[in-house]
Amino acid sequence: MMLENKVVLVTGGSSGIGAEIARQFRALGNDVVICGRNAEKLAAAAAKLDAHPIRCDVANVDECRQMLDEIDMQFGRLDILVNCAGIMLMYDFHAQADTPDRLQREIEINAIAPLRLTHMALPHMLEGWEPAIVFVSSGLAYIPFPATPVYSGTKALIHHSSMALRHQLEGYGVKVFELLPPVTDTPLAEGMDTGSFKKTPPADVVAELISAMRKDRFEIAAGASKQLRLMSRIAPAFLFRQMVKQFGGGNR
Ligand SMILES: NC(=O)c1ccc[n+]([C@@H]2O[C@H](COP(=O)([O-])OP(=O)(O)OC[C@H]3O[C@@H](n4cnc5c(N)ncnc54)[C@H](OP(=O)(O)O)[C@@H]3O)[C@@H](O)[C@H]2O)c1
Repeated sequence: MMLENKVVLVTGGSSGIGAEIARQFRALGNDVVICGRNAEKLAAAAAKLDAHPIRCDVANVDECRQMLDEIDMQFGRLDILVNCAGIMLMYDFHAQADTPDRLQREIEINAIAPLRLTHMALPHMLEGWEPAIVFVSSGLAYIPFPATPVYSGTKALIHHSSMALRHQLEGYGVKVFELLPPVTDTPLAEGMDTGSFKKTPPADVVAELISAMRKDRFEIAAGASKQLRLMSRIAPAFLFRQMVKQFGGGNR
């Protein structure tokens, strides 16, 4: 698909992979809107990226509605929605007293918010030009990471929903892409002990996304996520054991 002269909304565009998506889409001559919760961080990123900032917590329905209205007023349409905002919480499920709060927050931000925002944005997008949705899940959609007891599940949900929606929305002329990044060098992965695995630069992950979108390749397992996809199909138990050995995350 064409990736120029469009109106693009990148949730979580104030940091990491989202900021890099905003940068590369802007470089192609698109109007780019970015959102995030922290207003200062958002304003700084917007100035750097020459993007339009809208402060919005994607887990808040009213704020999402206001954001879509503002995009309508400013640009008159929305062509590409990139659902990139996300959090990853590492914790001991049993030992942590606030586990219920953590799991609810993670499911709301990573799983419910992108799907609900997509549903809310679709009426705005159907009038757009070659509309497309991008979901950012993770290589951990293919295999769980024991140290993050809920995160991988939220990403697996987005993986399945991306496949189902790709089929459902085709009839409305909406393309549905899914980016599955490997461990990427961003604030989210800061302090994560990746052992012998090197974190991938966000620029490389996003270059794969752009190249795949141009060719209408819809499931984009970037970098090492390709190996996770293959291994999760041919030897899932072995792969899971390797994840435990390499990264730990249990008490046994
Ligand atoms: N880094 C990795 O290794 C990796 C690997 C696979 C997949 N991913 C996925 O890639 C996406 C981006 O991650 P990243 O590594 O770039 O993380 P990051 O650098 O921490 O950026 C996350 C972005 O999401 C925003 N955000 C978080 N919660 C939000 C909310 N409720 N409403 C609006 N914005 C929110 C943050 O801004 P505020 O905090 O200001 O809201 C920030 O802009 C996530 O979905 C993540 O799960 C990352």
